[in-house]
Amino acid sequence: PLTTRPGRHGDLLVGGVSLRAVAEQFGTPTYVLDEADVRTRCRRYTRAFGTGDTEVAYASKALLCGTVARWIAEEGLALDVCSAGELAVARAVGFPPERVVLHGNAKTAEDLRSALDYRVGRVVIDSVSEVARLAALATTPQRVLLRVIPGVDAGTHSALTTGVEEQKFGLSLTTGAAADAARRVLGQHALALTGVHCHIGSQVSRFGGYERALSQLVTFLAWIRDERAARGLPEQGPAELDLGGGHAVPYRHGDDDFAIEGFAHRIHQVLTLECERHRLPLPRLTVEPGRAIVARAGVTLYRVITIKRTAAGQRLVAVDGGMGDNLRTSLYGARYTVSRVGQISSAPTTAATVVGRYCEPGDVIARDVPLPDDVRPGELLAVPGTGAYHHSLANNYNMVGRPPLVVVRDGEAHVAIRRETIDDLLLRDAGCRPETGR
Ligand code: LLP
Repeated sequence: PLTTRPGRHGDLLVGGVSLRAVAEQFGTPTYVLDEADVRTRCRRYTRAFGTGDTEVAYASKALLCGTVARWIAEEGLALDVCSAGELAVARAVGFPPERVVLHGNAKTAEDLRSALDYRVGRVVIDSVSEVARLAALATTPQRVLLRVIPGVDAGTHSALTTGVEEQKFGLSLTTGAAADAARRVLGQHALALTGVHCHIGSQVSRFGGYERALSQLVTFLAWIRDERAARGLPEQGPAELDLGGGHAVPYRHGDDDFAIEGFAHRIHQVLTLECERHRLPLPRLTVEPGRAIVARAGVTLYRVITIKRTAAGQRLVAVDGGMGDNLRTSLYGARYTVSRVGQISSAPTTAATVVGRYCEPGDVIARDVPLPDDVRPGELLAVPGTGAYHHSLANNYNMVGRPPLVVVRDGEAHVAIRRETIDDLLLRDAGCRPETGR
């Protein structure tokens, strides 16, 4: 399911580029991103949802930089941002503002102001108090969606579950917060309530949760229609229904996949039935995949620094990266495969745990993965499936700079985001004067 292909002498190829050559040219650790893979997945989404009035909004938190934002714009997708910073990237590449959606459970004044200033297509309201805050800043009518809690457990990791009541995102239908927010929006001239949103979680592999959430959203849309009528407000044209993202990606052979064509078909079916039941015109549907667009296009390259055997016989292969560039293993117990790059041998393959260089025992990249017994310090290892939530979750723990993002396509490689240097890090520190030439 992942993007690497075998090359000569044990090398691996991504986008026609040798990973050994990438490591030589750009150093390690390095994130490699296959442009064609990202674009193909964008097209698969737009094709799958091509019937009817549907929008695919790429969730930029998965991976964002000017280069990726440009691809997304070119592929005709919309863009989900959740901060003034993500919006600034969209702005830097001239991303069409009407195709931008702003999210966030605690948007700052800066987030709201920059969204209004750029005239983004929609702001997704996440709390009752946000209504007045946004209305006070808006000068021309701003289209808004209400993010509701559909009360659906998507069956994913607890840290990635966002459709249930006891978490921080969205407006509860149960407590009446959603209805309260809707009434307040309808009372604001500066805001136009165009629809509803939910996001039930991430790395969700079954459709059932989405179907149940969809039914809740349509019921709430019908309630909004009735509320408008009761207030003597003019009838609205077709509303918007944003079903969020979360579509699972297989990280290892045998992991569940998420068949996007089957999903699109099923969602259109359920949406049609629910709308008929409530006598509502079909709303414009939005989906917000992040991971499903970029995860498989990414590979992280590391160099082995040292190898140890624990008292119990466990083989620990330590590399030059770790939880600074891959937080997902320590945060969610994520599982990956690890491939040796640029060596062939007939040594037996046994279990190893690939650990990082950071000062924490939980700094693990991949637990118990098969690796040849003769892997040595200095060799390269590749971890595929690292295109989503790796660069975007990267950090500077232990004052280590973040790796570069190298884009590969048709046999050529170029730097989309350069490596962060120690000087970059010292520049922020009033107590340090950066040394030159580093
Ligand atoms: N829409 C909204 C409102 C979201 O909050 C998210 C993700 C998405 C769409 C995209 O979800 P995706 O299709 O990428 O699953 N750091 C975690 C994932 C956190 C997801 C947060 N919200 C991870 O590495 O697994």
